[in-house]
Amino acid sequence: MSKKTALVTGGTGGLGTAICKTLANRGDVVIACHLPHELEQASQWQAQLKQEGIDANIIAGDVGSFDAAASMISTIEAEFGWIDILVNCAGITRDSTLRKMDEKDWDDVINVNLSSVFNVTRHVIEGMTERGYGRIVNISSVNGQRGQFGQTNYSAAKAGMHGFTMSLAQESARKGVTVNTVSPGYIDTSMTAAMPDEIRTSIVAGIPVGRIGEPQDIAHTIGFLTLEQTSYITGANIPVNGGMFMSF
Ligand code: CAA
Repeated sequence: MSKKTALVTGGTGGLGTAICKTLANRGDVVIACHLPHELEQASQWQAQLKQEGIDANIIAGDVGSFDAAASMISTIEAEFGWIDILVNCAGITRDSTLRKMDEKDWDDVINVNLSSVFNVTRHVIEGMTERGYGRIVNISSVNGQRGQFGQTNYSAAKAGMHGFTMSLAQESARKGVTVNTVSPGYIDTSMTAAMPDEIRTSIVAGIPVGRIGEPQDIAHTIGFLTLEQTSYITGANIPVNGGMFMSF
């Protein structure tokens, strides 16, 4: 299998780190995108991976902005040639019941979680289809599939991601580009750590496999979906949730 170049948005976060490590460990050139004002943390992240024997590149870019995403992709293409694998992993929560949610909580979540997928993919898709190869994975959530008390904004964005996946999968199926969604359940990252303890504990207690997920559980699935050999899987939504939501 030839070496691929992978861009992971939100690459320095909890899930993103595990995904970057998995792709780098199998020999891919990995580029983790981080917010421009988080350069120092991203450099520390890169140094930490280096100590673990893993080479990862970092690039600043606000994926919530169409123009910033365009300039980030141009910079990557100038340095690395092209992008074979795109993992749209950048995401935030602003949990609150709808009656308390303000417009900013809505806009920020839709922008960072959903519009970012358009902003970045729009600048990558043409190159992939021209070259006849691409693997795009959008990281959604179990809560996009089933809803969650306190997450109208997040659940709407995450459900929207899979609509995007299915449409783009149809547009690019004959061009060697697969587009899939992975829907994680509750995973042990800073996002779930920020939840009120008693709510997290009661949700985790209801997970059929009996534990919270590990970032590696998601990274393994991304590794699989971004192989050359998985060219016949497209438009799928793969649940990785410990059995907390099952459907046909
Ligand atoms: N179902 C029904 N009722 C519920 C409820 C639930 N799940 N949770 C709380 N309530 C009730 C409370 O008992 C309370 O009732 P009373 O008013 O009768 O006392 C009422 O709803 C509380 O409503 P409030 O609007 O006052 O809620 P709050 O401000 O106290 O808290 C919240 C709201 C911040 C959203 C809090 O419920 C919360 O943090 N929930 C967790 C949301 C969650 O799961 N987030 C996931 C983060 S991780 C992630 O998103 C990653 C991923 O992809 C899985």
